[in-house]
Amino acid sequence: MEHTQWSKVKDLLHSREFGKEVSVRGWVRTKRGNKQVAFIAVNDGSIIHNIQVVAETGNFDENLMKSITTGASIGVTGILVESPASGQPVEIQARQMELYGPADPETYPLQKKGHSMEFLREIAHLRPRTNTFGAVLRIRHAMAFAIHKYFNDHGFYYLHTPIITGSDAEGAGAMFRVSTLEMSNPPLKEDGKIDYSQDFFGKETKLTVSGQLEAELGALSLSRVYTFGPTFRAENSNTPRHLAEFWMIEPEMAFFDINDNMDLAEEFLKFLMSYALENCYDDLEFLQKMYDHELIERLKFVIDNDFVRTNYTEAVDILVKSGQTFEFPVSWGIDLQAEHEKWLVEKYYKKPVILTDYPKEIKAFYMKQNPDGKTVRAMDVLFPKIGEVIGGSQREEVLEILQKRVQELRIPEKDVWWYLDTRRFGTVPHSGFGLGFERLILFVTGMANIRDVIPFPRTPKNAEF
Ligand code: 4AD
Ligand code: MG
Repeated sequence: MEHTQWSKVKDLLHSREFGKEVSVRGWVRTKRGNKQVAFIAVNDGSIIHNIQVVAETGNFDENLMKSITTGASIGVTGILVESPASGQPVEIQARQMELYGPADPETYPLQKKGHSMEFLREIAHLRPRTNTFGAVLRIRHAMAFAIHKYFNDHGFYYLHTPIITGSDAEGAGAMFRVSTLEMSNPPLKEDGKIDYSQDFFGKETKLTVSGQLEAELGALSLSRVYTFGPTFRAENSNTPRHLAEFWMIEPEMAFFDINDNMDLAEEFLKFLMSYALENCYDDLEFLQKMYDHELIERLKFVIDNDFVRTNYTEAVDILVKSGQTFEFPVSWGIDLQAEHEKWLVEKYYKKPVILTDYPKEIKAFYMKQNPDGKTVRAMDVLFPKIGEVIGGSQREEVLEILQKRVQELRIPEKDVWWYLDTRRFGTVPHSGFGLGFERLILFVTGMANIRDVIPFPRTPKNAEF
């Protein structure tokens, strides 16, 4: 916005137009000084660093000076000068200052530094004003932008899939209901069950767990599409890696087999890591210093290494022979837990890993079946610290095989007839995957808990803000 009457802190810190009159607006991070002069650090969220405002106390109203405390919002006009202080290139010699809103030092929760992450979660309405959350939110934005850029540059179309749905894509069964029926007195059918034909949509509806099934419809007409939207899971998993509301990126590609799918996932993730290093370096450096000393090295490590590609059976074999004691014992057929995934990545292969060909019983109905009758062409991408960051597969494109699986799993055909239709008319081999956006942000920021990489986390018993 070149036309506003004030500049962003980010631009001023990069400016060398000494002697020029500039204005800035933002929130006071700290104020120190003495009777003659005040040093006010102002931040407007445009960059991790503050700009220092130097105000000669005698030039300003006494009440104004008193009200300028940590957390207050102010506007400053003054002269941009080279800073004599080390660690900052420029500062502003204040000519005029105005107060937008005070922040009572007695009650402002961010008066002091160094709050715990747990405390900050309780003040999620104010935590974006901390350095940490400013950095995380800027990186989150940059990653969202990079995702759209990557797909746009590679001929994918952004497809908006519905949030309210009548189908359970993953068969996980942990969905939130969407209804306008009176909860205490719903209309009942003769058999005593709720009569959803009288509900808003005339049928039972839920919040979607994935946009994939609809994305497939897009891929089978536009060839390459992706979704990027909120998804919902009502599983009661209180872990540092699960949210009840999270964002998922789901590319879906016609004529891609599982190998093409893996190539895309690897290139895409590497692009995102490079984008972060090129565009978010200040924020990454801050997070590395404060929380995770290997952060930048780990991002480079993903870029520089070919991902290991192996299959589930092989991985289970390695885990069984490892001699490790895991909380969840390993045998062929189990769903791998984060502890297994992390061990494989961090201790065994020491590289990101893509596992394929999982047992069909632990994967969704739509995955392409292998000739062995036991496994499906699934692929999970496993990262250090995170475990599963991507889940995907080649899709079953043969109508008869898909229909048989739908029947075996007792999925009512009336719920998926439209999905089956795509295999009836012009079916093609195709593949896709889902990247958990917050899992990606966890990895890129080095934060430890998924609640700290989304502005307003939704987890069991938590929907305050
Ligand atoms: O492995 P999932 O369940 O796969 C799907 O939903 C497929 N329909 C994707 C596709 O093929 N289009 O979820 C995909 C990813 C996981 O790898 C994980 O990163 C993330 O979504 N994820 C979660 N992230 C945060 N909280 C949760 N509760 C998550 N569940 C899955
Ligand atoms: Mg998965």
